[in-house]
Amino acid sequence: MQSVGILGTGAYVPEKVLTNADLEKMVDTSDEWIVTRTGMKERRIAAPDQASSDLALKAAEQALERAGVSAEEIDLIIVATVTPDMSFPTVSCLLQTQLGANKAATFDLSAACAGFLYGVTTASQFIQTGAYRYALVVGVECLSRITNWSDRETAILFGDGAGAVVLGPVEEGYGFLSFELGGDGSKGDLLKVPAGGSRLPASHETVEKRLHTIQMVGREVFKFAVRVIISSTEGALKKAGMTKEDIDFLIPHQANIRIIDAAVKRFGLDEQKVVINIHRYGNMSSASIPVALHEAVMEGRFQKGDKLVLCGFGAGLTWGATVLKWSLE
Ligand code: UT7
Repeated sequence: MQSVGILGTGAYVPEKVLTNADLEKMVDTSDEWIVTRTGMKERRIAAPDQASSDLALKAAEQALERAGVSAEEIDLIIVATVTPDMSFPTVSCLLQTQLGANKAATFDLSAACAGFLYGVTTASQFIQTGAYRYALVVGVECLSRITNWSDRETAILFGDGAGAVVLGPVEEGYGFLSFELGGDGSKGDLLKVPAGGSRLPASHETVEKRLHTIQMVGREVFKFAVRVIISSTEGALKKAGMTKEDIDFLIPHQANIRIIDAAVKRFGLDEQKVVINIHRYGNMSSASIPVALHEAVMEGRFQKGDKLVLCGFGAGLTWGATVLKWSLE
């Protein structure tokens, strides 16, 4: 089997910053509550004329450039998102034409905050088997468009952004070493957007009741998240024949600093080994991990041979983790 790794990364976040002080004016909350309960200080909000494909395009162009791979060479585009521009065509189709990636097969993938993990796992199978050479995987969200800005329990949490990676063949023994994916649909009601699909199509009533926005039973999702960030990381490490002592960097989904802290404590990691940007961007769902990854790359934090664990969890419920041996100098 061909070893598959990340050849280049990219990220884009919109210019507009929404701070905790701004949120204090919108809902009954405080900077102190938000920082201590979530670790978030600000998040980015897409401009009115920006949709997910616009954010994805900027991140994808950067990832391609950094990988030294042209759009025409891309065989497959997977976009992980729960906030596509529209029901169809997909964001990946819109992106394909904007990039000029004319030979690429394209599809969107819906696994919420685990979407990026599902995306890289899926794309890497095609490269491992030799069916494809290069794949572009993007995690992108405009969560501000599905946020209920009068609900203090969710309005403070989410932000917009995009992260992208180009996957391709790497030296044997490097790249993705293992994957652990999972789901529990029985708990789907804990985190959902009820309307806008075939169950509750858009109507005056669904709009009036704000059923097109995120509903979350935060406390329950929190407990689930703490459980799976640990179990999926342990599962992926085991499959790679590794233990927690082998982790050089943990790049977790940025949902709540207390969830990340629970994993850090469990694995006995020191702060330098954990990539955190939640204070600047909040929870960007499928974009959180690739944006954090790209920023760490740009800061020069990884060296060839470092063992990275990427771990995501969210609506569905879904989760995923991967162990990646960094292949770039
Ligand atoms: O990305 C997908 C996965 N998502 C997650 O993993 C999110 C998981 N959940 C969480 O991160 C946390 O549950 C939240 C940050 C959403 C909430 O934190 P919490 O510590 O679980 O708070 P809580 O829901 O238990 O609420 C505690 C109190 C309540 O007041 P009472 O009932 O104790 O009087 C809430 O009404 O805090 C209140 N509260 C707030 N107060 C000020 C809830 N939201 C706010 C707020 N500002 N924004």
